[in-house]
Amino acid sequence: MILPILKYGKPELKRLSLPVDHFDGELEKLVKNMIETMYSAPGIGLAAPQVGLNIRLATVDLSVGEDSSKLITICNPEIVSTEGEQKSEEGCLSIPDFTDTVIRPKKMIVRGQDIHGEEVVIEAEGLLARCFSHEIDHLNGILYIDHLSTIKKSLIRSKIKKLAKSGNW
Ligand code: NI
Repeated sequence: MILPILKYGKPELKRLSLPVDHFDGELEKLVKNMIETMYSAPGIGLAAPQVGLNIRLATVDLSVGEDSSKLITICNPEIVSTEGEQKSEEGCLSIPDFTDTVIRPKKMIVRGQDIHGEEVVIEAEGLLARCFSHEIDHLNGILYIDHLSTIKKSLIRSKIKKLAKSGNW
């Protein structure tokens, strides 16, 4: 089932999400729906708050469904360490049609749990590191535009306000 993706302005996107503590069939169903939603968007990552659930869960797939070995579902992810910096264009399914340059770690080690609650450790580099950084931000109520300068951020906000006024947001 494709879930509606919340857009910028919804309170769920600004909240700190709570840990996943039940690794049950309900979680499996939610993950399945999130993956379907991510692929249909299409996007390379989706965090649970974007579908209105403030729990620490994200799905990531750089291949957008082309290569099943690239699909990662992570619960309660924590950044263990980071290395270097990368600067590149970034967008978000909750802020459609906008992109901007964001600095992210070049490499990072992320520890979390899989859908069954088993510990997983992922070494991410390049786009995958960017994606994890972006999705973990979502779990902390942070959007990529929060990393931009005040001027850039207010410009985007005013454009969104205008879109919302005309019913296009
Ligand atoms: Ni996003």
